[in-house]
Amino acid sequence: MLPAVGDRLHLTHLSDHDTTTAGQDVIAGLRAAPQKFLPSYYFYDAVGSRLFEQITTLPEYYPTRTELALLEQHAADIAHLTGTCELIELGSGSDRKIRSLLSAYARLQPQLVYRPIDVSGSMLKTSAMTLLKDYPQLWINGLVGTYDLGLDHLPPPLAPHRLLCFLGSTLGNLTPAQCRHLFQQMYRVLHHGDYVLLGVDLIKDTQILLPAYNDSQGITAAFNRNILSHLNWRFQGNFEPLAFNHRAIYNPVAQQIEMYLDAQDKQTVTLAALDFSCTIAASESILTEISRKFWLDALKSDLTAAGFSWVGAFTDPQQWFALCLCRR
Ligand code: SAH
Ligand code: AVI
Repeated sequence: MLPAVGDRLHLTHLSDHDTTTAGQDVIAGLRAAPQKFLPSYYFYDAVGSRLFEQITTLPEYYPTRTELALLEQHAADIAHLTGTCELIELGSGSDRKIRSLLSAYARLQPQLVYRPIDVSGSMLKTSAMTLLKDYPQLWINGLVGTYDLGLDHLPPPLAPHRLLCFLGSTLGNLTPAQCRHLFQQMYRVLHHGDYVLLGVDLIKDTQILLPAYNDSQGITAAFNRNILSHLNWRFQGNFEPLAFNHRAIYNPVAQQIEMYLDAQDKQTVTLAALDFSCTIAASESILTEISRKFWLDALKSDLTAAGFSWVGAFTDPQQWFALCLCRR
């Protein structure tokens, strides 16, 4: 008899939300001058994760459907190139994207191990339960926490090799320095012969880029403001999310979308649980997210500099998005 769904799921909570260091990154961001900022992983409480899923279905938000098509088209090629693997996924979110890969690997091997790593525990659990019902040979060992913590807590592999997936161009939400640090950490925790699969959004016309972050239904604006609602419940805050305007621009020098929340009026903000308060001036902005766009050649040299060998990239006919495979 097959083991029950619950017996094939193991979740470990690594988040530092309950420790004394929790929220120190928020304080640092709100104290920063001249530009206040917030770490973008605070978008993803249960409400934020649901809003992000809504974004992925918007007509203006091309990355998800483009990447899904690439995954459906090339998952079998990727599995064939890597051979038997266990799958690790950073910022896994919903179960939608990993399915093509799981199906391709399920055709190659009788047992599959999948290790999603995500700060959003609610999303991780829901997605894992759905996948376990659909894949009887799947075992899920989920790590709830940041990429850093998750990678440092990976147990020894149960397959000859590992495929570490980082999809959705979530890599673009990291600064170049954070990106270099992540590549170094990936190199350190992976073993010789393991693989990395990166989904990245490529540099393109601003007429395509800008509407993806300024959608006509205002879902991205709600997602942006939700970061403040999240801080309010987590740290007993008094932000007034509706007193901030959503603004998304393309910075051609840094080659990134920048999302801001602009204060309509002067506000004194308190986060009681952090014993912190600050003043936000009228029309002062808070940078809530960068979303970098990539040239494949530059990404290839960053990965090579970190020690990885470039295997190849799959792109769509419009060259909007790429799935890049490299080897440790
Ligand atoms: N990979 C999915 C989801 C992308 S949304 C896709 O391509 O559609 C980004 C995901 O990364 C969210 O689920 C969010 O909770 C998670 N996330 C964001 N920052 C994170 C961090 N620093 N550490 C771990 N997870 C993070
Ligand atoms: C998760 N991440 C890659 C998304 C992006 O496009 O940068 C988050 C997002 N922000 C606004 N819309 C979507």
